[in-house]
Amino acid sequence: MNKTFYLETFGCQMNVVDSERIVALLIGIGYGQVDDPKSASLILLNTCSIRDKAVRKAYGHLGRFKPLKDKNPDLMIGMGGCIAQQEGGALLDEFPYLDLVFGTHNVHRLPELVQQVEENRVRCEETEFLDMETRLRLFPSRTGGDEVSRFVTVMQGCDNFCSYCVVPYVRGREISRPSREILEEVHALAGQGVKEVTLIGQNVNSYGTRQSGEASFAELLEQVNAVEGIERIRFTTSHPKDISPELISCFGRLEKLCKHLHLPVQSGSSNVLRAMNRGYTREHYLDLVARLRETCPDIRLTSDIIVGFPGETEEDFTATMTLLEQVRYAEIYSFIFSSRKGTAAADLPDETPAAVKQERFERMLQLQTEISRTTWEQDVGQVCSLLVEGESKLGDGQMFGRTTWNRIVNFPGTPDLVGQFVDVRITKSFRNSQLGELQG
Ligand code: 5AD
Ligand code: SF4
Repeated sequence: MNKTFYLETFGCQMNVVDSERIVALLIGIGYGQVDDPKSASLILLNTCSIRDKAVRKAYGHLGRFKPLKDKNPDLMIGMGGCIAQQEGGALLDEFPYLDLVFGTHNVHRLPELVQQVEENRVRCEETEFLDMETRLRLFPSRTGGDEVSRFVTVMQGCDNFCSYCVVPYVRGREISRPSREILEEVHALAGQGVKEVTLIGQNVNSYGTRQSGEASFAELLEQVNAVEGIERIRFTTSHPKDISPELISCFGRLEKLCKHLHLPVQSGSSNVLRAMNRGYTREHYLDLVARLRETCPDIRLTSDIIVGFPGETEEDFTATMTLLEQVRYAEIYSFIFSSRKGTAAADLPDETPAAVKQERFERMLQLQTEISRTTWEQDVGQVCSLLVEGESKLGDGQMFGRTTWNRIVNFPGTPDLVGQFVDVRITKSFRNSQLGELQG
């Protein structure tokens, strides 16, 4: 029988990159990828545990596969990613139809684990964290493929222990990949036609600081900026406490660096920021924003905000609202606090009723929707340069690309434009995208 796998990926770019690797490894042992779970002999979920909602979603999807297993006992079902890392072997007890659990440091072991399950009809779990040396050897890298924009992993893990966050527990300690290797990968990508790279890591701003003699993140950006063929650089995610003056200056002097920075603030109240263990105050953050805008006046910022952190008062919340008004982010990604087992904030008293948190969340969305709308409307009538990435997801024969601000623009065009830079005049602005027309 043909061996086939169906893979579902949840969560952040780290999981997206891990999933790319899962695909390559499974193809390497003779599996073909399918997009219908019913026709797969192996179903894998690469999961996220950042908030309770993500966890419930993954369990919901897992449950949907149980009837398939009831019908076909030979079907193999596996779970990887952050839930797998956190729960480990307990998942096998809880879900009798689950065959395989692999952690965030164990993706490379998948071929052996799958073969073990296949050949010996055993259920197995591997969720050990690896030592630094082994991790350095195993940094995810992928060349090949035909995308014009690619993620390049520059660091993994996080040492910050923000009090609400599960990441340090499920991804392990921070580790930076040698800059030499990163540059080799970027060169290889440029050689195969990639035009844009996004350097990714949980906290890219602290890149290299743990290894003596390694480049700083600003120096790394400079080196990537010098790679011929690469035309655009982005990076994510940044921690405000680790943004150096050199990094700010990059936005003024590196011509390939896109004018967008995702700089999660989490809260506008210094009291809440302290309780979150974020390592900066509201004033420090606003100062960073002012310096970024001085260096690059048309930079656009985006952010993550947590509403209803334990102990957040109405006054704290108002501080977040006034910060949104001051900074005028192009977009925010906002979340109601979700208590995560094992994190410091899970033990904090939390007396704010859920309804109050919900109401704050909605008030914030309302304010931000208006700010975002005004930001993107400014582009209407302007000519913007787009890197064309492919055919529009709308399925209406249009093409799409992104502006330097990371906004998706759909426009009537032809597939031969993929990988090219085109000028379009923005004609309309919607909630999540814009419409444009090609300029002669
Ligand atoms: N509850 C709510 N939001 C959270 N985030 C991380 N942990 C939690 C949590 N426990 C949010 C933060 C982070 C984004 C990726 O997810 O805003 O920046
Ligand atoms: Fe989580 Fe804070 Fe690390 Fe970001 S910096 S991954 S929010 S602990």
